[in-house]
Parts: sequence; C-alpha cells; structure tokens
Amino acid sequence: MNRPLGITVSRQIMDSQRMHPQATGELSGLLSELIVAAKIISAEVNMAGLADILGLSGKTNIQGEEVQKLDEFSNKTIIKRMARSGYICVMASEENDDIIPVMEGYEGKYTLAFDPLDGSSNIDVNVNVGTIFSIHRRVSQWRQGIDSDVLQRGREQVAAGYIIYGSSTIMVYSSGEGVHGFTLDPSVGEFFLSHPDIKMPEKSKYISVNEGNHGYWSDNMRRYMDYIREDDKPSGRPYSARYIGSLVADFHRNLITGGIFLYPRDSKDPEKPEGKLRLLYEASPLALLAEQAGGRAITDDGENILDITPTSLHQRVPLVIGSKNAVDEAEAFLKGER
Ligand code: AHG
Ligand code: MN
Ligand code: MN
Repeated sequence: MNRPLGITVSRQIMDSQRMHPQATGELSGLLSELIVAAKIISAEVNMAGLADILGLSGKTNIQGEEVQKLDEFSNKTIIKRMARSGYICVMASEENDDIIPVMEGYEGKYTLAFDPLDGSSNIDVNVNVGTIFSIHRRVSQWRQGIDSDVLQRGREQVAAGYIIYGSSTIMVYSSGEGVHGFTLDPSVGEFFLSHPDIKMPEKSKYISVNEGNHGYWSDNMRRYMDYIREDDKPSGRPYSARYIGSLVADFHRNLITGGIFLYPRDSKDPEKPEGKLRLLYEASPLALLAEQAGGRAITDDGENILDITPTSLHQRVPLVIGSKNAVDEAEAFLKGER
C-alpha cells in the first residue's frame, strides 16, 4: 500500500502561522485540539456502522458501557476537549440552549461555535455526516466569554471548516487564505493534504434542495425550479438533482464538482419561517468556505450570509450557497427579476 508522503494538516497550520509573525500559535493550538476531537468522533462514527452490521448497537457496547447517540457523543467530545484547551473563552453548540462556559482559568482569546454532527437523521442509515465549526476572536475583555462573543458576523470569522465522516474522513478548512482539504489516513491517524487550494467550479452541475417542500415555497422559488428543469444544453440545464440531507455532505460535493444548495424560507412550519438551517453553526462557516473557494452564499432575498449580524444563538436563515454563477442566477429568480 502506498503511504501518502504529503503535508499533514498540522504542518500546514504551522506553515500558515509562520507567515504571520504576530501569531501566537493559539489558533494553531485550537485547530489541533479540534482535530483530535474529530479523530475521536470519526472512530466512533465508524464503529457505529460496524456495531449496526453486527447487531451490537443496542444499549450497551462491548465494555458494558451505554452506547451514546452519536450526536450527543460528538457534542460531549468537543465540549470536553475544548473546555480546557486554553484557546477559547466560550462555546456555542447547536445542541445546547445556551452558551457553554470553559473551565475557569483556561479562558483564551477565541470563541468556537459548532454543529457537532450535521445530518444526524442520516446516522442510522450509514450516510455521510459531519462536524461544522466556526471560530471568532472574542470581543469581550475579561475571563469567561459572553453571548456577544459568539454573536458575530460570519465576515469576522478567523477560521471555519468541517470534518466529514464519509467513505473517508475529510477535513476542509479556511483561515482566510483559501480552502484546503485533508484526508485522514486512519492507519497512521493523520490528516494529509489531499485537496490544496480548492476552487469551486463557476458553473453548476448539481442542484441540492428538498423538493418535498415544493408546496411550501414562494412563487419565485417555484419558477426558479421550473427553469432549472428546462432543457437547454448550452447553459447546462437541466441540472442534475443531488440531495443527501446532510448539509455538510451536500456542500462538500458541490464545492468539489460545482453546484448549488438551497434551503429557502417556506411556509411548512410557522415556527421556522426562515427555513431550517442555523446561521451560526451551518450557514456562516460554510459561507466563508464558499467565498474563499470563489463561490457565494446568500439568503433567499440576496443578503450576503457573511454580513448578517446574529441576534440569537439559534437563529435560522434561508440559505442559497454554491458556485458563483449558479447563485447569481438563483438570486435573480428569487428576487423576481427573472
Ligand atoms: P442537523 O442534523 O445538524 O440537525 O442538520 C440537519 C440539516 C442539514 O444537515 C440538512 O441539510 C437539513 O437539515 C435537511 O433538512 P430536511 O430534512 O428538511 O431536508
Ligand atoms: Mn446541522
Ligand atoms: Mn447537528
């Protein structure tokens, strides 16, 4: 078997730190801690599949311990590791109602918002899931962080990315200098650079949207979908439909192959007028990656996702994200200009 001899993710992080003489190494440390958490989650995700096949996924594992639901496991793993990392002052998780404090005496200068396991409805059926993260510099001055430390615009992110647990475990991140992807070699426990400087193809090949919501969409959204289905070879239509139901996996495919993902607002649930996805844990970090890779991320009325100032931790936002030309085109329809 050929071993990859390439650059490890730690090397890449250290190299980019070296390019910033004022850097203290804290962001590098933070990312390294997150990577350890991701490796632990990755191992657990793989075991869950195995346990399923062997029928061992009941209430206890082989050590007689309770098998935790994977999203809960991922959440706890990240919180535990990061709470005493010394690099962050507060966390926010999709799974927790309120901000999560760090251990006293370990307060650092960054903040971490995360979706511990995105696509969790897919866990039991062996379909890709992932962890999404977003890092900001704290704005409060003292000790434990507060809500306003995490309620910052996506534009202010210092770094963001995801780890996708799929046919391989891949980490994709950006700290503002392009987007890089690393693949975990499980036999040596290292992430190796596999996708340097990812650029999203400008043209879209795929469209990812939950068509089951058709009846709840706006007229503009429906007209857009009709247009997408039309036969027009020169413009690449109809786009092929691809919807996994794990945002992180749908986004990853579109990032590599070119495509557009939409979760617009709909009238399905009066409790969720803004659609389903969360600004802090899903839309904002992926928007940074999209923009860094040459793509775009907007709401369904054209606002740049990165320019939205969050007002609450679990704020939802309509999301249109993907290849630049495809998002431009969708925007024109959604605004009623086409
Ligand atoms: P999560 O598993 O973190 O709650 O997120 C699920 C999200 C996202 O991953 C996906 O794109 C979307 O829910 C799918 O929603 P629908 O089932 O409504 O299409
Ligand atoms: Mn999610
Ligand atoms: Mn989740």
